[in-house]
Amino acid sequence: MKRAVITGTAGFIGSCLTEKLLSKGETVVGIDNFDPWYSPQTKEQNLLTSLQNENFSLKKDDLLSVDLNSIFQEEDVVYHLAGRPGVQDSWGSGFSPSVENNILATQRVFEAALASGVKRVVFASSSSVYGASATSLSSEVNPISPYGVTKAACEQLAQVYRFRGLDVMVMRYFTVYGPRQRPDMAMNRLFRAALPGDYVFPLRGTGAQRREFTFVEDIVDATIRAGSLEIEDVIEPFDIGGGVSASLSDVIDQVEQIVGSSIRVDHQPAAKGDPLMTVADTEPAEKILGWRASTDLQTGLKKHFNSFMKASLPTS
Ligand SMILES: NC(=O)c1ccc[n+]([C@@H]2O[C@H](COP(=O)([O-])OP(=O)(O)OC[C@H]3O[C@@H](n4cnc5c(N)ncnc54)[C@H](O)[C@@H]3O)[C@@H](O)[C@H]2O)c1
Repeated sequence: MKRAVITGTAGFIGSCLTEKLLSKGETVVGIDNFDPWYSPQTKEQNLLTSLQNENFSLKKDDLLSVDLNSIFQEEDVVYHLAGRPGVQDSWGSGFSPSVENNILATQRVFEAALASGVKRVVFASSSSVYGASATSLSSEVNPISPYGVTKAACEQLAQVYRFRGLDVMVMRYFTVYGPRQRPDMAMNRLFRAALPGDYVFPLRGTGAQRREFTFVEDIVDATIRAGSLEIEDVIEPFDIGGGVSASLSDVIDQVEQIVGSSIRVDHQPAAKGDPLMTVADTEPAEKILGWRASTDLQTGLKKHFNSFMKASLPTS
């Protein structure tokens, strides 16, 4: 029986992917260890709708120890999204959990997927594999943060396992935003700093740094297309980017317009490992996956803000 196995099912992107596949009538097995790096309660909330669906089963397990051979089956498509994201937390003592949850966990997923003969693995990589000006147009993998190094290593592992016969596709996601965004990410913190309260947004650098912001529904769409594509031997990693690069200052302006108030900002020095610019080359994704982002930044930010406000409402 065809199934989707989603690692990181309780996280920001993983929970949206889970819900989307269930809504299409697919059977989904989700794996997540509810890592306390950010609130496990938030992750439980992310899964509330999916848990009501009889086609969903949840395995609360750690990829570093769970017996994946007993979970994976032939015909499964494995969407491997679990990991330790976040550039800033990968410095210093954060490197060890980044290595464990990115490199070591990914090697276990690839090894078990190969042994179980799964149909395909789709792996969530990152624009962080690129350099200081992370424009994929130069196509150079040259990370400038420990997080980027772990994702680049995972991509190399993908290549190694591909040579051994595993069908694995690499998706380089570019700064994802939208409902359920991780609490450490910029948009959520900008909303908080624009609403009444004490929270002040730490603006690292000048605000001129540019990102190709990508709405989560577009990311999910691209990821599902990669999982269902009927051709083999797709070797190139796909850049999955929102279509337009915007500066952080642009985003601040747009958030202020949407919320209707000014953002409290604390100016700080530029963060280490933060690229000046990210620009995706989405042509391969357009050509091979038939995918192109369809949500512009303003529309996506409005949807994100609406869900942010809903989630902040007290539950009676
Ligand atoms: N959000 C972005 O902008 C972005 C950009 C590029 C790449 N990515 C990648 O996409 C993936 C999903 O990102 P996200 O933003 O949804 O992050 P997230 O932290 O919300 O989700 C990751 C999930 O993986 C789980 N997890 C971590 N280690 C695990 C382990 N050892 N065993 C089982 N579960 C484990 C966590 O509990 C979490 O629920 C990550 O691999 C991330 O590196 C994200």
